[in-house]
Amino acid sequence: MKTLIFNIKELIQIRDESIKKVSGIEMKELPSIKNAYLRVDGEKIEDFGLMDDLEDFNADQVIDARGQIILPAWCDSHTHIVFAGHREGEFVDRINGLSYEEIAKRGGGILNSAKKLQDSSEQELFEQSSQRLMEVMKLGTGAIEIKSGYGLTPEAELKMLQVIKTLAGSFPVSIKATFLGAHAFPSVFKDNPDAYINLICETMIPMVTADKLADFIDVFCELGYFNVEQTERILKAGAKHGLKPKIHVNQFNSIGGVQSGVKYKALSVDHLEVMQQKDIDSLKGTDVMPVALPSCSYFLSIPYTPARSMIDQGLPLALATDFNPGSTPSGNMNFVVATACIKMKMTPEEAINAATINGAYAMGISETHGSITRGKFANLIITKDIPSYHFIPYAFGSNLIDKVMIKGAFI
Ligand code: NIG
Ligand code: FE
Repeated sequence: MKTLIFNIKELIQIRDESIKKVSGIEMKELPSIKNAYLRVDGEKIEDFGLMDDLEDFNADQVIDARGQIILPAWCDSHTHIVFAGHREGEFVDRINGLSYEEIAKRGGGILNSAKKLQDSSEQELFEQSSQRLMEVMKLGTGAIEIKSGYGLTPEAELKMLQVIKTLAGSFPVSIKATFLGAHAFPSVFKDNPDAYINLICETMIPMVTADKLADFIDVFCELGYFNVEQTERILKAGAKHGLKPKIHVNQFNSIGGVQSGVKYKALSVDHLEVMQQKDIDSLKGTDVMPVALPSCSYFLSIPYTPARSMIDQGLPLALATDFNPGSTPSGNMNFVVATACIKMKMTPEEAINAATINGAYAMGISETHGSITRGKFANLIITKDIPSYHFIPYAFGSNLIDKVMIKGAFI
């Protein structure tokens, strides 16, 4: 199937294939052309250019995009969209004064979701997760990372990862799977945390990798969850089985998780709401992508990642949703981009770079996703008729998307 889209008001995030991520001052640039055409052949971008240079082309489908802007589909590099049920009761408890940590201490939080997930069938989980995946695709997400971590037993973790694999086979969106057995200690291991670490390292990781069910390994490195030593044991065991880390660090406390990520060559370190200068320094000159999750900060009323300071010091940054039932019940990347601009003082150019090419890097897929580049997947957001791309974060409450193309087909 060949598609020609013509009269595009502005085609943004056009990149040379050699660009895999953008850092520091480079994030302020968002290359674009006005009055453009774009040709798609099968699943891939074939060509693009100025309307003046458009030559005769036999297309099966021709779209006039007058007044509309095209950008690459969002790359959401951090989600937990496979979950069972919701936790709106805890949301109300927080309104009434309890903190996220206090709710977790009372057996709510991650353990509450784990109980629900353990009691759900694989089919039920698949159906619930499919709905969420369809919703985020319609909101412009073309590639997504999904974590396990609400199973917390070998069987239930495998069930989650199996659902992620089935989703990947059922939807056009590109999916990367992350094993997050170290999301919380199950209550039965409360007095014997080492036994749970052993279970993860000696049983779960080999099982997950034998079935090729995960691309990455994650740990929630935080006070009351996994300390630095436990985190590093798990990362080491993961590395032995070929799993690169993408880890939860510095959400509530700076305890050395960023440095562990650097030491174990993490693809990304995520959350980063609480950052000390030494954490920022440890990321300089490394290949680790810092990932901010502003809708989590918004929902929990916790600090926002100090993006301005990090980018001004030369670091790259990616933006993701963290879609999960506890801290971020939303998978809307448009809201993430707007919130990054409004609350973190990122410019629209920085935020769009962070949500596309840098998000792709944080999933290890920036050779095929995250920019308008010849040969990359034709994953596109076609906006409604809007004055400029600045309108995307500006009109933060409106759905500005007209159509979404994933791998060459409209969804
Ligand atoms: O990224 N912080 C750890 N994990 C999730 C929240 C999990 C939950 O509350 O269910 C997060 O915010
Ligand atoms: Fe998360």
